[in-house]
Amino acid sequence: MYPTHSVINIENLKSNFLNIRKKVKKTRVLAVVKADSYGHGVKDVVNALNSLGDKKPDFFAVASFDEGVEVRKLKVSQPILIFTPLMEEFIPVAIKYDLSLTFNSPLQLSALEKLKGKKKLKIHIKIDTGMGRLGLDYDNAIDVIKKLEKNKNVLIEGIYSHFATSDAKDKTFANLQLKRFVGLIEELKKEGINYGVAHIANSAAILDMPEAYLDMVRPGIILYGYYPSLETSESIKLKPVMSIVSSVASVKVIKKGESVSYNRKFFAEKDATVATVSMGYADGINRGLTNKMQAIIKGKIYQQIGTVTMDRIMFNIGADKIKSGDKVTLIGSEKGKTITAWDWAKKLDTIPYEITCNISKRVPRIVL
Ligand SMILES: Cc1ncc(COP(=O)(O)O)c(C=O)c1O
Repeated sequence: MYPTHSVINIENLKSNFLNIRKKVKKTRVLAVVKADSYGHGVKDVVNALNSLGDKKPDFFAVASFDEGVEVRKLKVSQPILIFTPLMEEFIPVAIKYDLSLTFNSPLQLSALEKLKGKKKLKIHIKIDTGMGRLGLDYDNAIDVIKKLEKNKNVLIEGIYSHFATSDAKDKTFANLQLKRFVGLIEELKKEGINYGVAHIANSAAILDMPEAYLDMVRPGIILYGYYPSLETSESIKLKPVMSIVSSVASVKVIKKGESVSYNRKFFAEKDATVATVSMGYADGINRGLTNKMQAIIKGKIYQQIGTVTMDRIMFNIGADKIKSGDKVTLIGSEKGKTITAWDWAKKLDTIPYEITCNISKRVPRIVL
């Protein structure tokens, strides 16, 4: 078996989800499980969340149609929202698998007019309130929504928008987006248009903008145990779900002045023992971590040395007694020492989302 694996702590996932439920009280919760549940393994994540009885998610959401079908095949009975804009050719599949599609442009109206059959197509209307990416413009969406409402083959199950800056300390723009969205909702109410559930709150808004909860919230990263940025509060207690564990593949001594790995980016200042670990950029260790990351071996932190290669990374273990087969923790906790996806992310000027999503398929996910 591959010595490197990703341990998925299902109890931590459930605890994060239940803490989110506690925080948002009676508000419905949609669990975002796109991109293989941010790299954690969608099957295990969905099954774990659905084992929570009456506390289980009210909705799931994924990015792509294929992901939606995959989740439905897990015998999920809740609605599954696809964030990607609806495409005409996907409508029969959406009806067959009871997937809810994102309506984001008046150009999609003609495809919906061709709908016939017994089952209605479920739609969530996407509103652009400032993300500048997808959706009907908030200030002239009403006419398009009125046209959509007339289509009796469509069920408007929801309406949603997405924050661009809810993870920043300064909430000025997020508040403006919320105001624009709520303004449209009020207009729809006045017009007597049934828009289903209104939702806008991502993880950051769940932590810090209770006024944005509306009818439903959409947590992603906080399910997996990470705060979305270094500027949000920590108003929900979270525990990281993913650990990355391997073992020492080989140990060798190098002399003072010798170098390690491609392009000689590390030179030993004194004689040192080098431990090689079977994990590299093909597994999701960005080459930008060269000489920057760390590992825990036998409860002690060691520095990674030399260029990260496709299948291997090296650590300087000095004169310590470490042998092949000893456990190596790359993300996780051991004997009071902890390394998190945030430690990698900060060194790469990114966020934990990208770290967990990029742990490649070669790394088996093992459920704890
Ligand atoms: C439309 C939408 N809603 C919710 C989320 C969840 O975001 P987060 O992981 O920050 O909670 C995402 C993630 O990118 C998204 O695209």
